[in-house]
Amino acid sequence: MATGAAMADEDAELVINGEIEMIERTTPPAHLDGALGDTIMSGWIFREDETQAFQMDDFENPAMIYVDKAMDMFETVDGAAGQACSSCHTDVAEFEGLRTQLPRVNEATGKLETMEDIINGCRTGRMQADAWKWSSEEMQSMVSLIGLQSRGMPMDVAIDGPAQSFWEEGKEMYYTRYGQLELSCANCHEDNWGNMIRADHLSQGMTNGFPTYRLSATRLISQHNRFRGCIRDTMAESFAEGSDEFRALELYVASRGNGLSVETPAVRQ
Ligand code: HEC
Ligand code: HEC
Repeated sequence: MATGAAMADEDAELVINGEIEMIERTTPPAHLDGALGDTIMSGWIFREDETQAFQMDDFENPAMIYVDKAMDMFETVDGAAGQACSSCHTDVAEFEGLRTQLPRVNEATGKLETMEDIINGCRTGRMQADAWKWSSEEMQSMVSLIGLQSRGMPMDVAIDGPAQSFWEEGKEMYYTRYGQLELSCANCHEDNWGNMIRADHLSQGMTNGFPTYRLSATRLISQHNRFRGCIRDTMAESFAEGSDEFRALELYVASRGNGLSVETPAVRQ
């Protein structure tokens, strides 16, 4: 059981631009069965004051430059079909709420789809444009722009019905010990959240802020890139970004944070 809970700033409240109130801590979803105690918490709570402040102000948040770039891309024709995103989607605001549901099972294909999959599906299928690489600046900027439309809304991924087998696969990965260090995701983010690991204050490993802008890397980080980094820290071979394994893991990790609001794009050290 984590002992460092008291280290997480109990008084901090996430209010963006002085107006958008976030649910940065709440009651855990039932499926966690007490594994994280009586409160799930956004990663924002564990960051230093300065990093927190960057995220609370859109004029300070360095990720917003990429959101602006994505807005330009949204309106720019690309690909052989001569279309822009905006040719078919007149207003990005139509994507409000979408981020809270992803990843989800695509009814037509039966596959688990992420925001990256949906965007590339429109690019290749409808625009006849090249697919963007998973963690490319273009892709993560667009993922941020569309995710931002759900900011403040609680995460609410489905884990039953057609999603259940993917969810179970992701859950099994979460508790599998990887690498020479034989550490599972749970060993760090469930058993040791609140404690320090080297210079890092360990969070519960939530994904509600992704893509996150990392000040140390000076760029947007995708969820799969973060998973890869965490697995590499255990000295293990990792799965690839965009792999089915990481899609399943993304669903399971998202479900641990059901109830926390979308903070896209969040800021991290
Ligand atoms: C030729 C028309 C067309 C173009 C161009 C297009 N889309 Fe789509 N897009 C669709 C259709 C049709 C759907 C499925 C129906 C729907 O949900 O609107 C869709 C679905 C989506 C969805 C899922 C919406 C939801 O609520 O499930 C997203 C996100 C999206 N598109 C983003 C984009 C982005 C970003 C671009 C540009 C890179 C783009 N689209 C370009 C036609 C298009
Ligand atoms: C050796 C410990 C360790 C293991 C094992 C580990 N992580 Fe992490 N993880 C960290 C550290 C340190 C950070 C950065 C500080 C933080 O947010 O906790 C981090 C950050 C994260 C974040 C970003 C949280 C945020 O709010 O920005 C996610 C998501 C995450 N990890 C998921 C995972 C998943 C999924 C696994 C298993 C595949 C995993 N981690 C395994 C140490 C670990």
